[in-house]
Amino acid sequence: MKVLTLQGGARKNGNTATVLGWVEEELVSMGHEVSSVYLQNKEIKGCLACGKCKETMEVVGCIQKDDATEILDQMVAADLVVFSSPLYFWGIAGPLKSLIDRTYSFYVDYHQPEHASLVEGQRQALLVTGAGAWENNAEATFTAFERLQKPHRAILGGNLYIGKCTTAENLDESVKERAINFAKLLCRNKAVL
Ligand SMILES: Cc1cc2nc3c(=O)[nH]c(=O)nc-3n(C[C@H](O)[C@H](O)[C@H](O)COP(=O)(O)O)c2cc1C
Repeated sequence: MKVLTLQGGARKNGNTATVLGWVEEELVSMGHEVSSVYLQNKEIKGCLACGKCKETMEVVGCIQKDDATEILDQMVAADLVVFSSPLYFWGIAGPLKSLIDRTYSFYVDYHQPEHASLVEGQRQALLVTGAGAWENNAEATFTAFERLQKPHRAILGGNLYIGKCTTAENLDESVKERAINFAKLLCRNKAVL
């Protein structure tokens, strides 16, 4: 599979990057083609809500041109997109949120029989790290993400929350094992393409 991973957190070598790295390693070892984008140093403007992407029956994409243009193209080309972020006030980090908002341009005619999407059938997954110990810390984040697949006509590949991410030592072998199992789950029933 062609896999794209998106790292939304500010810290390039932080907890999220560490866990995502384990997921990527496992995906590569399974023979998948993985490319990764660190979003923090990209220019990703917010959605203008201009509606230009909804004016025709054809999906025309986003009219704003910045670093998101190439990333959105990479997303469209991927079989699996792994979104990842630290939990920031019970939500995802700003750059990833801005990018997701720009995926408004991926589809037309939501709720209509003509509903069409550039990422139809794509697998999408979300990895979140947080300081809080409890899964429900990220509940609202996962709920929003699971709803994203509806307008995208995509498929939820999986969700993973790694809690107690305060110091690097907390990212022990048990976390690595969870990351590896997550990667395996994402590829379930999907042969290497
Ligand atoms: C601005 C900010 C807000 C945060 N909000 C939360 C939160 O709501 N819940 C939580 O569990 N952790 C929260 N944290 C902690 C981080 O999510 C956690 O330490 C994460 O693993 C950091 O990831 P990183 O090392 O990739 O930056 C917050 C941290 C920052 C900097």
